[in-house]
This record gives sequence, C-alpha cells and structure tokens, in this order.
Amino acid sequence: MSENVSSLLYIVAGVLFIMALRGLSHPTTSRQGNLYGMIGMALAVLTTLIGHPPAGAAAWVIVLLGLAIGGGAGAVIAKRVPMTAMPQLVAAFHSLVGLAAVAVAAGALYAPQAFGIIENGHFHKQSLFEMGLGVAIGAITFTGSVIAFAKLDGRMSGKPIMLPQRHLINALLAAALVVLLALFIGTESKFLFWLIVILSLVLGGLIIIPIGGADMPVVVSMLNSYSGWAAAGIGFTLGNLALIITGALVGSSGAILSYIMCHAMNRSFISVILGGFGGDAAAAAGGGQVETRPVKQGSADDAAYIMKNAERVIIVPGYGMAVAQAQHSLREMADLLKKEGVDVKYAIHPVAGRMPGHMNVLLAEANVPYDEVFELEDINGEFPQADVAFVIGANDVTNPAAKTDKASPIYGMPILDVEKAKTVLFIKRGMGSGYAGVENEVFFRDNTMMLFGDAKKVVDSILKNL
Ligand code: TAP
Repeated sequence: MSENVSSLLYIVAGVLFIMALRGLSHPTTSRQGNLYGMIGMALAVLTTLIGHPPAGAAAWVIVLLGLAIGGGAGAVIAKRVPMTAMPQLVAAFHSLVGLAAVAVAAGALYAPQAFGIIENGHFHKQSLFEMGLGVAIGAITFTGSVIAFAKLDGRMSGKPIMLPQRHLINALLAAALVVLLALFIGTESKFLFWLIVILSLVLGGLIIIPIGGADMPVVVSMLNSYSGWAAAGIGFTLGNLALIITGALVGSSGAILSYIMCHAMNRSFISVILGGFGGDAAAAAGGGQVETRPVKQGSADDAAYIMKNAERVIIVPGYGMAVAQAQHSLREMADLLKKEGVDVKYAIHPVAGRMPGHMNVLLAEANVPYDEVFELEDINGEFPQADVAFVIGANDVTNPAAKTDKASPIYGMPILDVEKAKTVLFIKRGMGSGYAGVENEVFFRDNTMMLFGDAKKVVDSILKNL
C-alpha cells in the first residue's frame, strides 16, 4: 500500500473517530457513535498491518497473538466489569496506554533504523524531542493511573497522602525533567532516557497521591487526556498519522471533560493539572462524627401514598441506585405514577454516580424516555414546584452544605436543590455518608422522610403498594 493511500485511510479513520465522539455526546446517538469508533479503529489497525506488514511469519504470529490476547482480555474484562467499577477500569486501561508509550519510545531508541529516525549514526533532533516528551508523559500517566486505580478500587486508602513541600518537590521534579530532556536531545544518551522514565514515574505517583477520593473523577479524565498526548507524541516519532489524530482527540476530549467536571464541582482546572488538587479539603472530610439527631422515617406504603397523590415528582438517582441496580424497578414505578397522572421527571447531577454519564447510561438501559431526563441546570428551578423529590441512592449531589459550609470538601459544587420540594423521600440503607464523607443536613429537615433499605428492594415494595 502506498504512503498516500495509507495516509488517506488514516484520515478516514480519524473522521470516523470524530463522528464517534460526536455520537457519544448524546444518549440517542451513542450506540451509533460506538459503531463509528469500532469501524475507525478496525480500519486504522488494518491500514497499519497492510501498510507496514510485519516482517516474516514469526512477526505475524507475534502481532496476531498480541491482538488475540489483548483483544480477548479486553473483551472479557469489559463484559464482566460492573458499571460501578468502570472508573477504576478506565484508570487501569490508561495505565496501559502510558506503558505502551514508554515501550514504543524505548523501541524507537534501541532500533531507530526501523523507524527511519536516524541518519549518519545520529538521531533526528525532532525525533529525540518527541521520544523524550512522549516517554515522560507516558510514564507519568502510567504511575498516576496505577495509583488512581488502587484508590478507586479500594486497594489503597482514598484519603489524600500529603507530603510536606509537595508543590516544591513536584516543581523541582518537573524542572529536572525539562533539563534532562534538553540533555537527552543533545547527547542521545540511553542513560538519560531511562532517568527521564524513572523521574516521570515518580512524578506521576506524587501528582496523584495527594488527591482525595471525591476529586478522583477529574483525575481519571485528566489522566485520560495525558494518555492521549502521550500517544500523539509517539505518533510523531513513528510518523503515524492515525496515532497523532487519535492521541490528539483523546488528549483534547479528556481535557475538555476534565474542564466540564471541574466546572460541575466548582474546582480550578489549573490546580488539577498541577496536582494536589482538592487534597486539603478532602482531608477535612474524614472526620466522621456519629450523628445522633432523630430523622423522620417512613415505609414503602407511605411513599406510595404520597407519590400517588402528588402532581409532580422529580427522581434524583445516585450511586446507590447503580449499586442496587434499581433502574428497571424505578422505571416501572415511574410508569405507574404516570398512569395515575403524575408528572415524572429525572434530575441528573453531572457527577452523580462514579463516572460521567453514569446515571444516563443506567436510565437508558432501563428504557427511560430521554425527554424525561434533565440536566441539573435545566431542572433545578423546578424543585420548589415539585411535590416530591425522590432521592434514590444519591447523597453528596443533594447536600446543601455545598452552598453554605465553606469548610466542607464539597463547598462550591453546584447541587440539586431537593430540599426545596414539598416532600423529600430519601432512599438509602442507613445514615451513612456519601463519597465525600460529609453529613447531609437534608436527612434532618421536617419535609424529609427517610426510607431505609436497599434501593431496589424499597422501590419494589413501593411498586407493590402502588
Ligand atoms: P454518594 O454521595 O456517593 O451517595 C450514595 C449513597 O447511596 C450513599 O450515601 C449510600 O448510603 C447509598 N447507597 C449505597 N448503596 C446503596 C444501596 N444498595 N441501596 C440504597 N442506597 C445505597 O453518591 P452521589 O450522590 O451519586 O454523588 C456522587 C459522589 O461521587 C460525588 O461526591 C462525586 O464527586 C463522587 N464521584 C463522582 C464521579 C463521577 S464522574 N460521577 C466519580 C467518582 C466520584 P448508605 O450507605 O446509607 O446506603
């Protein structure tokens, strides 16, 4: 295949990736978007294999074995992983992208003739720069993602680990990396290359350890962005257009997603990029005093009665709905209420659950009509007119401390104003706090009724009573 044809095919793959992102931006088109992405990736892989065929049968076997093992493992893991564990899976996958960037850069350093980046015994300066930068970002992404995975998966404490002078240490490490990069380009030294790898691995870990659990979603999407830039850097080294386009798309969409999430949580984007983000605030969250104030408790029968007689019900799903897999029963409940003439809407907070779009995916899976599902800014004004706010397994995203308590780790995060509804029905198993570890004042309000139990079981018994 000529270079021109493969470039053209790579551009077609790039366009398919852009169409995939566009499709994924709305639930109604997301399946189609996924399909475009899969076709684009298949095209890119085939173009690479045909355009630069592996040399000899043994190389083909290695490539095909790699595809089968990697693809097989990916398919099995993706099939098995529960939706609630998706953020840590994404973090784990990012770590592999980072590692791949390191491996490819090392490959290019040790076999430069295979990549056409050496002339008269000397590397092209530009290739050294791309290699050095790609490997640094790749190594930072690798350790950063491994730590994000361990924190999200509960394999290490989600609490921030605060080193003294961490900003200074990180700044010094970053400055040392810049100097090493310049020296590496000047000397082509393999020793310096590996020194860059080691310092970057350390920096990746140091950037992530001070970040508290509640701020992890932004970190995962930020690492997503880093992994994209690492891939794009390697794309330049390999002269591979598809990798450059894909890397840039992942890099920029990850950065945009991080920005949107920062906005949703009222955090500063710059502080995330620099690391140490949210650490101080999240550290304050661990206090965990035992709450002894009384709450009003109700039964499924009470809830059914209140909602049947309501005109407007706004359902607020959260992480607990995902854990209980209550979305199907919830939709059945909403269907019954609608038959009774109740106006039912769903309010989705941008960081409800454990990943962006978590609630949308679950509601779509249960065939909840898209036109009943509203984003925070579109529905928040409607709570004062609602008879019932039906909060199912959500907590932090309804906590008014975010508006009033400057010391709270979630201060500044926009929240759903459920407490403004005439009655708030709160489904959760007990008085446990949410992800950020803070008490929710709404539990103790006069207009709140707590319905204790597993979200699915409670909704099923409300259904029976309806
Ligand atoms: P949370 O604040 O985590 O609250 C979920 C509540 O669900 C808990 O208080 C828990 O209380 C209850 N629960 C758990 N299992 C349940 C079950 N089987 N049945 C009924 N209730 C159950 O959730 P949220 O309101 O969705 O807020 C999301 C939080 O996660 C935010 O702090 C956000 O920053 C953070 N976060 C978000 C993301 C993204 S991108 N969405 C990623 C990582 C972290 P009980 O234990 O008393 O049952």
